[in-house]
Amino acid sequence: MRLQLAASLACALMWTLPAPAQTRIDVDLAAETHTIAPEIYGQFLEHVGTQPYGGIWVGPDSDIPNTDGIRDDVFDALKALEIPVIRWPGGCYADLYHWRDGVGPRDTRPVRVNMVWGGTEETNAFGSHEFFNLAERLGAKTYLNLNLGTGTAAEAADWLEYLTAEAGDRAAERSANGRETPYKVDFLSIGNETWGCGGALTAGAYADLYAQYASFAKTAGDQPVRILSGAHDGNPEYTDTLLGHPYIADLIEGVSLHVYMLPTGEWSKKGAATGFPEAEWASTIKRTLRMEDVIADQRAIISKHEDLVDGFGLYVDEWGMWVDQDEAKAPPALYQEGTIRDAVVAGLNLNIFHHNADLVKMTNIAQMVNVLQAMILTDGPDMVLTPTYHVFEMYKPFMGAEALPVSYTSPDYTLGDVTLPAISLSAARTAEGELILALVNADAKASHDVDLTSFGAKKAEGRLLTAKTMDAGNTFADPDAVHPVPLTAKAKDKKLVLDLPPRSVAVVVLK
Ligand code: AHR
Repeated sequence: MRLQLAASLACALMWTLPAPAQTRIDVDLAAETHTIAPEIYGQFLEHVGTQPYGGIWVGPDSDIPNTDGIRDDVFDALKALEIPVIRWPGGCYADLYHWRDGVGPRDTRPVRVNMVWGGTEETNAFGSHEFFNLAERLGAKTYLNLNLGTGTAAEAADWLEYLTAEAGDRAAERSANGRETPYKVDFLSIGNETWGCGGALTAGAYADLYAQYASFAKTAGDQPVRILSGAHDGNPEYTDTLLGHPYIADLIEGVSLHVYMLPTGEWSKKGAATGFPEAEWASTIKRTLRMEDVIADQRAIISKHEDLVDGFGLYVDEWGMWVDQDEAKAPPALYQEGTIRDAVVAGLNLNIFHHNADLVKMTNIAQMVNVLQAMILTDGPDMVLTPTYHVFEMYKPFMGAEALPVSYTSPDYTLGDVTLPAISLSAARTAEGELILALVNADAKASHDVDLTSFGAKKAEGRLLTAKTMDAGNTFADPDAVHPVPLTAKAKDKKLVLDLPPRSVAVVVLK
């Protein structure tokens, strides 16, 4: 009996005590660095479900406090993220979007049906002016996705002239619609997922069409960065064929990549947002870590095509968690609860993007409000910030910082026959000279110590995001259940050690 008690006490202690410092970091503070493009922290606003209608746009006459139709609570929360760029209007929806439907007096705009996402009513109340004004108020750059699927090269060229011309009839029309100063289109894509919802085109057929559209897709003033719509994580050769097109190199500055994390890996049953088994935590982490290999494959393909411009970039313009839709919320399509699992997935991906800062010039998490791995969820007048929001807020100092090459060993996270590295990290130096470190403990159950001694710092302080269970999140009933808390490294055996609890994301400044 006494033995049994001792055994279970020992077991309980093993469970709660952190393992000895196992993560060792090797960092060369004098090594060449690469700037982490702020646009890696980009957002994606597609017309889906309650985005933008209800979640962002409520209209000037709404009882929900708003400024020119944009709800104030959501705007303020987005503003705090210092969003660098927003992609709009899709996604698959971009290939059904006709820009003329969304300009002019709102009460004369045609009401359409969003045929790609749930057949919801599309009032076109949120159109070009509403999007560009929102981006301007947020201080975000604009990334416009032109309609290749059901549009024409003429329609695309007209839209760009309408938005950016200084003179002529299109500029006069824009002025009459309330905006005299031209808008700025910073990034441009023509077509989306052209191997799928964007037209089911072979790479050769899309490359021909792209070259035709891009030849006429001009803006007045500075030209946008042009991004060719590329592969997903399962068809890298699509990008290879696109980049091999004889005329394409002169018409692009980057190529896109889409990577989604489905817990089960099955589109027909992706797995639930909450109440999932640990096996689906582990499989999600495993699929997320593949991002490093997927980018490596794209890097190899891009480097084969020597005619691409210097500074050619990979634009991961859709990424994130995709779980089974919350049927209680249907028809709003693609609405899902946000949890600490999403936060861990966000941290792992952002660390991988930092590791590849020389190549990855922008990423756009899918999506901003009420859709997939959203920053913010709304329900009528109520709003909650998701754990993913907190990760983006905590990681802000990495925008524009210099990524430091780090190598590290990690303890294992093992479940059944799956063994994964528990710890992920990335380091950078800010413009102010501060050393910052982002860390993720992807272990569902165990805490792990990280030895920071190699940075030569005396102190490490920052914030930690964690939760009591694998599927904890912020709900409308308990909107602040998961939020960042202060974190300080401890001196142990002449070492500086950070104790990372299970299921956690941390950002610290080394001093
Ligand atoms: O983000 C949701 C959808 O996922 C996008 O519309 C599409 O491009 C992708 O398949």
